[in-house]
Amino acid sequence: MLYEQTYSKFLSFKGEPLRQGRQKIHPYPAMLHPLLVDYLIDQYANKNSVILDPFSGSGVSLLQSGLKGYPSYGFDINPFALLISKAKTTNYDLELLEKDIKEIQSEIKKCEKVDIPEIKNIDYWYSQSVQNSLGRIRYCLKHGSYHYPELLKTCFALVCRDQSYTRKGEFKRYRIKADKIEKRKDEVMRRFCNHLETILEVIKESDKEILSPRHFFDTSENIGQYHLEYDLIITSPPYGDSHTTVAYGEFSSFGLEWVNDCINISSEYRIDKQSVGRKRSIAKGLLENKILNDTLELIKHQDESRSIEVLYFFNEYLIILENVLNQLPKNGIACYVVGNRRVKGIEIPTDQITAEMMEKCGMSIKEILVRDISNKVMPSKNSPSNRVGEKDKTMSFEYIVVGNKE
Ligand SMILES: C[S@@+](CC[C@H](N)C(=O)[O-])C[C@H]1O[C@@H](n2cnc3c(N)ncnc32)[C@H](O)[C@@H]1O
Repeated sequence: MLYEQTYSKFLSFKGEPLRQGRQKIHPYPAMLHPLLVDYLIDQYANKNSVILDPFSGSGVSLLQSGLKGYPSYGFDINPFALLISKAKTTNYDLELLEKDIKEIQSEIKKCEKVDIPEIKNIDYWYSQSVQNSLGRIRYCLKHGSYHYPELLKTCFALVCRDQSYTRKGEFKRYRIKADKIEKRKDEVMRRFCNHLETILEVIKESDKEILSPRHFFDTSENIGQYHLEYDLIITSPPYGDSHTTVAYGEFSSFGLEWVNDCINISSEYRIDKQSVGRKRSIAKGLLENKILNDTLELIKHQDESRSIEVLYFFNEYLIILENVLNQLPKNGIACYVVGNRRVKGIEIPTDQITAEMMEKCGMSIKEILVRDISNKVMPSKNSPSNRVGEKDKTMSFEYIVVGNKE
């Protein structure tokens, strides 16, 4: 190995739930552990730090930064991730929030109208009764006037997924078996009301001033246009292209198809296609990365087309890395939390590839920490050949690559 790794038992946070406090508002695939974010902030922030997460997902890093009083910026290409993140990082006036919750609870009981959006294969994914119940809540959300619509929509989205026929514990859309479908009841109203109550309690318990972040979309665009100033990056990029690894878009699609016209996006399925790995023009310097090149050669011997997919993934990974490191001032710090996935049985040393890329972008590598990720919500197995049924081990460690701008 070129760059030294240091295993930290302390950072495994055994027994500390991944979703605690406001992180319970909505789950998201491959969430950062909030205590890891706290640790990195305590280690590397100074009192005037501004934090950037270029792949902010459900906003774990942004919430932890805000709770500690640091300003932050988050980028994510998935509008559903931004919705969750905004719901988690808003400062709520508890009286107004309680008023919103009481109002929507009473409206949905009285409402006789439904608003069911056009959803492809809707009957395959939802019973008629569930469609009507969700349609009623959606009607009230669209026509009511609420102080915190983002939180209400996030809670609604959770129920849309929960009450669909998709299997729990999967990020992709897989329908449950027919015998389970027969036993399913319409629990939309109960689940929605209960979730609102739970979240109200969570927000009451965590009633602490949060410095709310600013949210943006795509980090592979020129982010210099926003003139953001930050000196600490804490992020966890995707592990690979969404097609073969974590399908953030598919995970989000159940909520999105019911709230998308409320949050102004056109197609939920495009997200995974737009995620890192879509750019086809190869970035200058990409193939000078020796560790990446050696890995690609190994994969190429097994399967040339998979090695090209991996190449395209790291191509855009590098473009974004350069984009965000360019704006980092001297002595600024970047913490990239990555996983080393396998393709065709070959481990991709993303930590080493990231460290080599960071060095080429003018950073010196401070450390690579290694931690257990037994807590993380990830499928424990993936399909190495990309064929249904064939499984391989996925990652059980996470690597935190820390670089310092020279
Ligand atoms: C590992 S997840 C981040 C999870 C996040 N740390 C959390 O705790 O919820 C990676 C995220 O990168 C986002 N993403 C992929 N391509 C992107 C791009 N070009 N610009 C911004 N975000 C992108 C995905 O939508 C996904 O939410």
